[in-house]
Amino acid sequence: MNMIQRPRRLRISSGMRDLVRETELSPRDFVYPIFVVPGEGIKEEIPSMPGCYHYSVDQVADLAREIAARGIPAVEVFGLPAYKDEIGSSAWDMTSPVQRAMTAIKEAVPQLLVIGDVCLCQYTTHGHCGELNDHYVDNDATLPHLVQTAVSQARAGADIIAPSDMMDGRIAAIRAGLDAEGFVNTSIMSYAVKYASGYYGPFRDAADSAPAFGDRRQYQMDPANVREALKEAALDVQEGADIIMVKPALAYLDVVRQVYDRTDRPIAVYNVSGEYAMVKAAAANGWIDEQRIVLETLTSMKRAGAKIIITYHAIDAAEWLSA
Ligand code: PBG
Ligand code: ZN
Repeated sequence: MNMIQRPRRLRISSGMRDLVRETELSPRDFVYPIFVVPGEGIKEEIPSMPGCYHYSVDQVADLAREIAARGIPAVEVFGLPAYKDEIGSSAWDMTSPVQRAMTAIKEAVPQLLVIGDVCLCQYTTHGHCGELNDHYVDNDATLPHLVQTAVSQARAGADIIAPSDMMDGRIAAIRAGLDAEGFVNTSIMSYAVKYASGYYGPFRDAADSAPAFGDRRQYQMDPANVREALKEAALDVQEGADIIMVKPALAYLDVVRQVYDRTDRPIAVYNVSGEYAMVKAAAANGWIDEQRIVLETLTSMKRAGAKIIITYHAIDAAEWLSA
């Protein structure tokens, strides 16, 4: 009698592996983040994020067409404003690069979904994500500004509002604000579970949003906690979030899985700038096979439970997947 079990039978050929594969990555899973800046005719590479660029608004229509042509369904728009102040009022200025870029993208490629990152750190002189009261980020004073920003982005054409500030109660406030202005079909993708992470370093250079003093640990989550992540996710679902995000991605896949198991909302992950920069640096040194590492990593995010993957690798990965 032959006692040996032979799992290798199902790996014997590429046809067999295709047949039994449990997780299939697709360009349809991706969101590509873009950074818009004031000025004209600008496409400048971001030093700590090779392959990613600062674009002026006149460049985004072509970019949007390229992204859509690769089968990627959505972009998330970040911006550097023309001016900063104490409360971050350029965040809801309809003439700021973010709002103008959103309108330009929707005009050029109406079916491409536009996601707006709602936060104030790129727009405040102090670089914190809300209004300051002495050196304390005042939660409740910040909420109306987040609502104004969300409404301005919806007005500019955003299909999905993605608040990344980590203030309490913002999802309910933004939902009510959008509804009051008639934007009942504008979705909310909450950065519900956002950790205070070292992995945001390159982004803060790209978006000029590093805090001028202190850090974000009074509002972003402690990397050591997962039960708290379940609380944050549950609260945002109650408040009306349509999609729940976990961020960063790779170091938090256990969190992704637990949130997935406990909610009926689609899960998004943000494969953040530091994760991207590490891969690009190692690949540039010839130490890793970039394509293989990227596809393996993105597949692991989907396997953990994420349907939506926000990633700077989106354009390259979409090309590799369709090759
Ligand atoms: C703004 C924001 C950040 C990121 C997305 N939105 C940075 C931060 O919280 O400091 C990080 C994205 C990345 O690192 O790629 N709050
Ligand atoms: Zn912020």
